[in-house]
Amino acid sequence: MAIIKDQLIEHIENKLPDSLKTHIYRSCEVGRKLCGIHSVDTEKVEIALLGHDLYRGYSDNEMLNVAEEKEIEISYVEKASPLLLHGVLASITMQEQYKVSDKQIIESIKYHTSGMEEMDEVFMTVFLADKLDPKKIEKNSQLEPINQTAQYSLSDATLMYLNMKISSIIDSGHLVHPDSLDARNSLLLKTRI
Ligand SMILES: [Fe+2]
Ligand SMILES: [Fe+2]
Repeated sequence: MAIIKDQLIEHIENKLPDSLKTHIYRSCEVGRKLCGIHSVDTEKVEIALLGHDLYRGYSDNEMLNVAEEKEIEISYVEKASPLLLHGVLASITMQEQYKVSDKQIIESIKYHTSGMEEMDEVFMTVFLADKLDPKKIEKNSQLEPINQTAQYSLSDATLMYLNMKISSIIDSGHLVHPDSLDARNSLLLKTRI
């Protein structure tokens, strides 16, 4: 696992712009703290966070081209918002280039933008660590209560984030990814029990 982390750091240092590098390292810091609080596997969370945004700097066209090259099925929502593909592309590179086969790591990367129906603790920690980058909190005050909630409940904080995000996507007139609705609905059912 240590070798994969070193390889990913080398990739990040050599290929990603500074703004993305610093976001990834800040997310890792948040992820490590959340792992400590909630007893989640830190190695998995760190590897997923190091790999989650390898394609975040690509343009829409570059993302669509890579997705076509790799013969990924592109949904109508992803066609309208190609940015949604960056997690899928990263999950493929993690498997093909870095030989990561762990399902929790791969799914945490693949669905880190939208969320997904069955989210476990590793997934929610990666998901929240990405969204709760302190620089993002500085820019969006709605994230602060989610950050506070994440200190005691990963599922409550993830549900809060999805509710906020889905509302803002609807308000701005954009398409909601079906995986985000599945994520929100399944969490809502679980947290109500
Ligand atoms: Fe991302
Ligand atoms: Fe990110």
